[in-house]
Amino acid sequence: MVTVRAPATSANLGSGFDVFGVAFDRPADVVTVERARETSIEVTGVGSEYIPNDPEKNTAGVVASALDAPASISIDKGVRPSSGLGSSAASAAATAVALNELYGRNLSDHELVQVAAEGEAAVSGTAHADNVAPAILGGFTVVREDGVESVDASIPLVAVLPDIVISTRDARHVVPESITIEDMVRTVGSAATLTAGMYRDDPDLVGRGMEDDVVTPARADLIQGYDRAVEAAREAGATGATVSGAGPAILAVTHSGDQRDVAAAMLDAFEADGIDSRAFTSTIG
Ligand code: HSE
Repeated sequence: MVTVRAPATSANLGSGFDVFGVAFDRPADVVTVERARETSIEVTGVGSEYIPNDPEKNTAGVVASALDAPASISIDKGVRPSSGLGSSAASAAATAVALNELYGRNLSDHELVQVAAEGEAAVSGTAHADNVAPAILGGFTVVREDGVESVDASIPLVAVLPDIVISTRDARHVVPESITIEDMVRTVGSAATLTAGMYRDDPDLVGRGMEDDVVTPARADLIQGYDRAVEAAREAGATGATVSGAGPAILAVTHSGDQRDVAAAMLDAFEADGIDSRAFTSTIG
C-alpha cells in the first residue's frame, strides 16, 4: 500500500495560459493505492459527491490505465472540485506518483507529469499539464510541449475561493480563439516579467507580470464579484490578482506580512456581494 499527498495548485497566473503553474502548501488530496486485479475508486472528502467513481471517468482511473497499474484507489479530497485550484490535478498527480512507486515503474517526475496530464484530459477535455506539473514538482513551473521547467520560488500567495462552481470545460469555451499582435506583445511582456520575478523572489514583478488582457477578462465575466474582490486585494496591498486556473478562485500575490489583510479584504468583498468564500494563504510550495 502506498499513500501520497498532492497539493492544490494555481494555473495560468494571468499571462501564462496553459503554461504557468504554482504549488500551494495546502489544501491537498491524499491518495492511497493498493494492488488489485481491476481498478476501483473510492472518493471521500470535500465535494466527493460530485466526483465519478467510474475509473474511465475519474482522473485517477485514467492514470491507472495509462500506467497499466490496476489498483484499489482511495482518494481523500482536500481540494474542492471545480474550484480553479487544481482539484482533478491533485488526484491525478498523487495517483501517478503512488502507482509509480507501488508498481516500481521507475518513471521520472517529468514522465509522471505527462501521465497525470492524461488524467486531466478525462475531466477538462484537454491534456493541459499546468496544474499537474506543480502538483508533482512543486514550486513555479513552466510547461511546454517538449518539457517542464521548475523554479523554487518563494512568493507569498493568497487564494480566495467563492462558493460558486465553474467547470474547467465551460471556462475553456470562453477562451478567445485568436489574439491580435498587440495583445501577444503585451502578454509576452507580462509573462517574461513574471518569470523574472519568480527567479528573483520579487512579488512586485510577479504581481505585475500576471496582467493579461486575453483570457482573464473573458473568464472574469463568469465569476460574480470578481472585480470587487480584485480591487479589494489591490487596496489591501496585493501586487497583483487574477483568476486562478479556470476559476472561480482568485489568486493574489502579496509581500510577506500582507497575506492576512489581502485575504480578509477579498473575503469581505465577496461577502458584500452575498457570496460565501474561504481563503488559503501559502508560500509557493
Ligand atoms: N490552464 C487550464 C485552464 C487550467 O485555464 O483551462 C485549468 O485548471
